[in-house]
Amino acid sequence: MQPPAPLPLPKLHDVPDNGLVRTPPMGWNSWNHFASKVNDPVVRAAADALVSSGLKDAGYLYVNIDDAWEGERDAQGNITTNKKFPDMKALAAYVHSKGLKLGIYSSPGPKTCGGYEGSFGHEEQDAKTYARWGIDYLKYDWCSASALYKDTDLRPVYQKMGDALQATGRPIVYSLCEYGNGDVWNWGASVGGNLWRTTGDIADHWQSLEEIGFRQAAISRYIQPGHWNDPDMLEVGNGGMTKEEYQTHMTLWALLAAPLLAGNDLQHMSRDTLDILTNRDLIAIDQDPAARPVQRTVLQEGKTELWTRQLQDGSLAVALFNRGDQPAPVTVKWSQVGVKAPTTGRNLWTHKDVPLSGNTYTATVVKHGVVILRLPKS
Ligand code: GLA
Repeated sequence: MQPPAPLPLPKLHDVPDNGLVRTPPMGWNSWNHFASKVNDPVVRAAADALVSSGLKDAGYLYVNIDDAWEGERDAQGNITTNKKFPDMKALAAYVHSKGLKLGIYSSPGPKTCGGYEGSFGHEEQDAKTYARWGIDYLKYDWCSASALYKDTDLRPVYQKMGDALQATGRPIVYSLCEYGNGDVWNWGASVGGNLWRTTGDIADHWQSLEEIGFRQAAISRYIQPGHWNDPDMLEVGNGGMTKEEYQTHMTLWALLAAPLLAGNDLQHMSRDTLDILTNRDLIAIDQDPAARPVQRTVLQEGKTELWTRQLQDGSLAVALFNRGDQPAPVTVKWSQVGVKAPTTGRNLWTHKDVPLSGNTYTATVVKHGVVILRLPKS
């Protein structure tokens, strides 16, 4: 089928900041584990599990339905749900009754990535429908729009939905999903975006995590309260990586101030998975209100790295990563990271205070693992 003619592009302007997600959004998204098998009971169960597991108390609030909820359009052009979602308004009410928020998904193209109905030519109408249902978050995925538009059109196309969401009057977090194309970090905030994807899709294995996670530091300076780089959703607990690799995943995302959107089956998760997702010390770094960028130093190309991030209270997060396939010693020289001989630091995975002395600190870091310390203000 021939793609339709592109829509006329709006004149560029700055969409006002919606004031939402002053710290990176936290919650759950259906895609990484359930993909197109998501349905109403799965979403309700995820909401229940967020509460019963303690994830909600740790800050995970958004319950986000990804692709595969969409039905056809009715005679008036209104988007409907497919039979897996009999009543979206009732689902939103259920999620809200738990003190949580509901997210949904669409595309500026005629079809979503999964081949479902997109919002092409129905942007204002769909935004109104979402608001009527009680939706709190929209992930807007480029998908088939790539057949109609060039990368230079990303900004006006995303602006159109940014305006449409704001015109509803309902606070709706706006998540741009364009795989990092068009240097989105330069203009994502101006279309009303609260977060924007900086990469292609993550997968549940070390190569994917390594390729995505270690490439994000250079654009860290584009984050600001309300507007976040999104290196994609978490794979923690999906089974394809070791506990240490998932700890590295969580540590990288926290240092990058990435959205923390769990992507596992919350009803069936191990103690280790829950401990990783609810690590309050790491969550505090992710959510640090100062939103300062991370600094990355490669110590040995492809093997060991040192990352640091200044935090609002004057303390410093220092992470020693080992990307190699054998345990390796990793050394930080305090002069290198601008601190004066600290005497103590907190290890954020063992939750123990570590006595420090001298001009350096060396940890033996396991394969694909990390040691992260928080040093008090010096
Ligand atoms: C794209 C997105 C994913 C997911 C799928 C759904 O690949 O990048 O995050 O939303 O589409 O079809």
